[in-house]
Amino acid sequence: MKLMCSVLLLCWSVSLAAEVRTTRNDLRKFPDGFLFGTATASYQVEGAWDEDGKTENIWDHMTHTHTCIIQDCSNGDVADDSYHQYERDVEMMRELGLDFYRFSLSWPRLLPSGFADRVNEAGVAYYNNLINEMLKYNIEPMITLYHWDLPQRLQDLGGWANPHIVDWFGDYARVAFEQFGDRVKYWLTINEPREICYQGYGATEKAPVLNVTGIGDYLCAKNLLLAHARAYHIYDDDFRSTNGGAIGISFSAKWYEPETDSEEDILAAEEQNQFEWNEYVHPIYSETGDFPPIMKEKIAAKSVQQGFPRSRNESVYQTRPVPSFYDDLDTGFYQPSDWESAASSWLKICSSETDQLDGSNLDQSQNLASIGSHTYGTDMLFSDIDPGPYRNGPCYLTPVNDYHQQSAALPL
Ligand SMILES: *[C@@H]1O[C@H](CO)[C@@H](O)[C@H](O)[C@H]1NC(C)=O
Ligand SMILES: *[C@@H]1O[C@H](CO)[C@@H](O)[C@H](O)[C@H]1NC(C)=O
Repeated sequence: MKLMCSVLLLCWSVSLAAEVRTTRNDLRKFPDGFLFGTATASYQVEGAWDEDGKTENIWDHMTHTHTCIIQDCSNGDVADDSYHQYERDVEMMRELGLDFYRFSLSWPRLLPSGFADRVNEAGVAYYNNLINEMLKYNIEPMITLYHWDLPQRLQDLGGWANPHIVDWFGDYARVAFEQFGDRVKYWLTINEPREICYQGYGATEKAPVLNVTGIGDYLCAKNLLLAHARAYHIYDDDFRSTNGGAIGISFSAKWYEPETDSEEDILAAEEQNQFEWNEYVHPIYSETGDFPPIMKEKIAAKSVQQGFPRSRNESVYQTRPVPSFYDDLDTGFYQPSDWESAASSWLKICSSETDQLDGSNLDQSQNLASIGSHTYGTDMLFSDIDPGPYRNGPCYLTPVNDYHQQSAALPL
């Protein structure tokens, strides 16, 4: 929400300047070709959680089962009521002067069983209305297929930890392309894989709060990447030539760098970058594909140390791999306002719970606390991705508002 507020502020100052001093306004214009937009996720804005055939998603389930898991005991049952007030929302987009609006589809609103056996006509009508209303005013729709809200029925079957989700997600994506692809040219498959997998399956910060660190998060990562690839290939094979759109994935990424040039700090920062975002970027954009080698090696070694009969690491090689090189990269970057304390709480978690730091480093967490995060992280990130070790391609920066800032890692 903070992010959106600052965008809002910028907008108003631009139009105010236009009235007062036109010469100054010229200087403040966005460059040609720059698209100004905003973004939401279905659970964060739609409300109408059980209306017109929509079934329960994992956030409905979590907030209804543990009613105070969100700090203020709120939930998304009504949210911004965008399901009923989409016309006013589009009007506000016009007031803001938006070129595009990125929103996500609610999977259980379109496919109430989670599977593609029956498409919910009311759900299709809602998104058609929203899209058509935006197009009336030349606001470009950008759709995210998955942004937090898995159908609970699929979660009951393991959700992103079940390899069949690759088929389920592909079927759902096809329905969305069929219904909306004639008018929607920008598609994002999945929003913030790391948050979905690490925070939802490895930890307790997001639904489905599984807390199976070091196994759940890696299974999720593998299946999620393959599901992304499935949706990508479906679009590429069957829709791109007629609809002519773009499709990609949206990562979150923080850039970590060593505070000193000691070998230990350099390695710690490098490993943190590998585990934090390269886990998802490397399989898609590197020449070799698959998870970063250093991740696999460390996890394999630590699994032996921990007494597991086989390594906990996964691999994402398939006959049709995660698409490489030619799809579009999207990066979201979020810098918490309480940067310092966020950095230190991360370090505490990291040094005791995750695979990137060896057990032998546990009692050296103070040394490792020297990994710093800097405000120029975005620049560093982009210089690493583009051109960096990865091929060039179109790149969109699409931050989203932050409902999850209010969620709390409360014991269940
Ligand atoms: C785990 O990583 C090791 C080392 O790179 C690799 O040999 C092995 O095949 C991986 N295991 C799985 C299940 O992918
Ligand atoms: C998550 O799991 C860890 C151990 O794996 C445990 O110490 C912690 O209490 C669990 N957290 C919750 C909220 O269940």
